[in-house]
Amino acid sequence: MFENENATDSWRIILNRTGPDTPLTQIVDEGDQAMKATLACVLLLLPLHAFPQEPQKPTEEKPATESKSSSETGKQVNPVKPTPSSIASGKKSYTYDCAMCHGKEGAGDGDLAGDMHLKLRDYRDPAALKDLTDGEIYSIIANGKGKMTGEESRMKPAQIWDMVNYLRSLAKK
Ligand code: HEC
Repeated sequence: MFENENATDSWRIILNRTGPDTPLTQIVDEGDQAMKATLACVLLLLPLHAFPQEPQKPTEEKPATESKSSSETGKQVNPVKPTPSSIASGKKSYTYDCAMCHGKEGAGDGDLAGDMHLKLRDYRDPAALKDLTDGEIYSIIANGKGKMTGEESRMKPAQIWDMVNYLRSLAKK
């Protein structure tokens, strides 16, 4: 941190001699020229000493402002085209992870929904998801909603988009 080894030593000497509570001006008043020179040196170096610690603050605060991932905002545009293979892959994931609540055909009649007394929408009805954008559906699947747990940690984004495409396809039948 200090380029000048002597300055580091002098700094230690000052600390040892005066202790941290002694005002620096008091040392100057003693009229010790050598000490004055050292003090000037130390004062010049102080900003250098303090500087490396300063920039850490913004980096510490950054995660807080960026904690809202894009999947939470629901503003993502669906990057996956609703091709037959995307829908087929979405159906596979849906059958494993969602059908127990939302039902095999998306009717909201899964066994677990019955056990939990959940009242779920019928995704075969085009009105069920019409007010949600693909990004918002993605966000609900990724982060969960109410009694539904999110899949973000267990699924790749592409898999989630495939499920969005699959859910959309249900209404078109
Ligand atoms: C434990 C039962 C359960 C499971 C499993 C489940 N959900 Fe849900 N889901 C719900 C409930 C309950 C809601 C309504 C939450 C609310 O409005 O508070 C919901 C809401 C939704 C919504 C928002 C639209 C709506 O109907 O309100 C979507 C989209 C959705 N789920 C998709 C999925 C997908 C895809 C999966 C599989 C990855 C899944 N869900 C797994 C219970 C479940």
